[in-house]
Amino acid sequence: MNKKTVRDIQVAGKRVLVRADFNVPLDEAGQITDDRRIQAVLPTLQYLRQQGARVILCSHLGRPKGRVVEGLCLTPVAKRLSELLCTEVVKTDDCIGCDVERVVAVMKPGDVVLLENLRFHAEERANNRDFAKQLAALADIYVNDAFGTAHRAHASTEGVTHFLPAVAGFLMECEITFLGQALSEPTRPFVAILGGAKVSDKIGVIENLLPKVDQLIVGGGMANTFFKAQGHEVGASLLEDDKVDLAKDLLKRAADKLSLPVDVVVADAFAADAKHKTVPVDKVPADWRILDIGPKSVKQFIKILKRAKTVVWNGPMGVFEFPAFAVGTVAIAQALAETEATTIIGGGDSAAAVEQAGLSDQMTHISTGGGASLEFLEGKGLPGVDALQDK
Ligand code: 3PG
Repeated sequence: MNKKTVRDIQVAGKRVLVRADFNVPLDEAGQITDDRRIQAVLPTLQYLRQQGARVILCSHLGRPKGRVVEGLCLTPVAKRLSELLCTEVVKTDDCIGCDVERVVAVMKPGDVVLLENLRFHAEERANNRDFAKQLAALADIYVNDAFGTAHRAHASTEGVTHFLPAVAGFLMECEITFLGQALSEPTRPFVAILGGAKVSDKIGVIENLLPKVDQLIVGGGMANTFFKAQGHEVGASLLEDDKVDLAKDLLKRAADKLSLPVDVVVADAFAADAKHKTVPVDKVPADWRILDIGPKSVKQFIKILKRAKTVVWNGPMGVFEFPAFAVGTVAIAQALAETEATTIIGGGDSAAAVEQAGLSDQMTHISTGGGASLEFLEGKGLPGVDALQDK
């Protein structure tokens, strides 16, 4: 990575504003159900504390649209951070203003403060200059460790960099290094697996990856549009009619690289307990919908994956939230767990699927960013990274 990191800057005794992505899932009781995004920032926090920095953390949670929403306060995150860091993490009632300044003024080296949800102020998403200036005034240095939010040009990801020396944290460095290396210098064969509901969500990724990969495996709902392009009927399955021509074009351009399912699991309803059966892709009954890839497809994909040296996976092979239709996705996760290849899992659904299969610790890298990793794979610049100081 050609950006400066916390290692390249003197932080001892300094007030360091750290942007994290603590946008974690909460249950109805407000309990955190998955703390991976909090765990992922710990190396940066531990390093800064060991160096004697005063750590001022900030993040968004959810999309409160510029209003204070009680259920989106960062209190549960402060509690979890206190447990993980074995130190009290004080949470302020706001992210800017006199009360916050008073709390920060009495911080000692090694102390950690968490500012309240940035998005309680509309100015955060608007990348308002004054708001960014007020945030920046709390600190001497800015560290961005929020890879999951790096695709947003908000006040706390881009705006503040106009007022403070800005460097990357270890998580940001790790994400950019793994994803970047896979795209620029992959050990070959390089295989990408794309899934998820819609082709339209993945067009940018397909276009960017096709020239780089040796094989592109397509599964999930997005494969339906390719089936239609191959001349097959897809019954009541999700289909993007307006993308059939694009799928035809891709099939023509990259027939040697594209690998599509040959059989699928169809269901008579979109429900966990729906009646289901496996059929070849050209035998999908009318009124039935495709909810998973079939066993022959799994076998075909695993054969490709066994030869791969680098694999990037973004998007599940079926409706993995329903156990009956998680078989294809779990089989792919299992194959990736068993391979010697470098395995990089895009955030969001693919990360959740690997976690659900209990195989997270067997992957080389699981991204903490859903939208951010998608935009990175599309080859787009990430404003939160671009704004940091070059090495
Ligand atoms: C995410 O969960 O993908 C990030 O935290 C970004 O959230 P946003 O899509 O609400 O900006």
